[in-house]
Amino acid sequence: MRKPLMAGNWKMFKTAGETSAFFQKFLPLVAASSHADIVLAAPFVNLPAAVAATASSRVEVAAQNLFWMKEGAYTGEVSGPMLTAAGVRWVIIGHSERRQFFHESDEMVLKRTEAAIECGLKPIVCVGEKLEERERGETGQVLSAQFAGGLAPLSDAQFAGVVIAYEPVWAIGTGRTATPEIAADAHRTLRGLVRAGFGESAAASCRILYGGSVKPDNVQALMAQPEIDGALVGGASLDAVSFSTIVNF
Ligand code: PGA
Repeated sequence: MRKPLMAGNWKMFKTAGETSAFFQKFLPLVAASSHADIVLAAPFVNLPAAVAATASSRVEVAAQNLFWMKEGAYTGEVSGPMLTAAGVRWVIIGHSERRQFFHESDEMVLKRTEAAIECGLKPIVCVGEKLEERERGETGQVLSAQFAGGLAPLSDAQFAGVVIAYEPVWAIGTGRTATPEIAADAHRTLRGLVRAGFGESAAASCRILYGGSVKPDNVQALMAQPEIDGALVGGASLDAVSFSTIVNF
């Protein structure tokens, strides 16, 4: 009953020209893929090219971040209303690379998520533990704290459209995927937090994606877990054949 969501995160890769070329190759490969929602997150400057290329398809475009103010003297920032005006439908929030390199806190994640919802962008909010936290047995506590700070303060109506991405930091870009069982276990923890915060029907309908070294050869085993509702794919989303194989798991 939860429709799979297969999302690609290009991070800081591709030019506008490479964006258009990707979709020319990718769209025919997913033309029949109505089993899943398909989203690609491109760098800001390539969003218009991505929106234009996907205009007559089911593929939707995401930004990789947004600022929480609508406009103002915030040099270098991009707001939600600017993104929706450009035809963007989704936004990734709180990716571990933003937390690590740009010192984003759970409080900022909450502000960005509220701003996204207010302007009609669908947020994909990322959570996940670092290797040393997992080794210390703190995964549950880390997920609880990230959920408490970044998501729990939302109202039921605000939370209704939120997608959560579980991305263990030790699995991102390392080729070291969480086993389907490890991922499903974390997803169960997260769904329990959703249930406690927003109730049974929110828990039943909330899509929780797995991210971290998802590849064509491991996507099936991950998606076979009933707890895993889709994938957030970095490196393997840069190639049209590879990402279409993942979408068509
Ligand atoms: P990866 O990245 O698939 O390259 O590990 C996932 C992500 O950061 O969303």
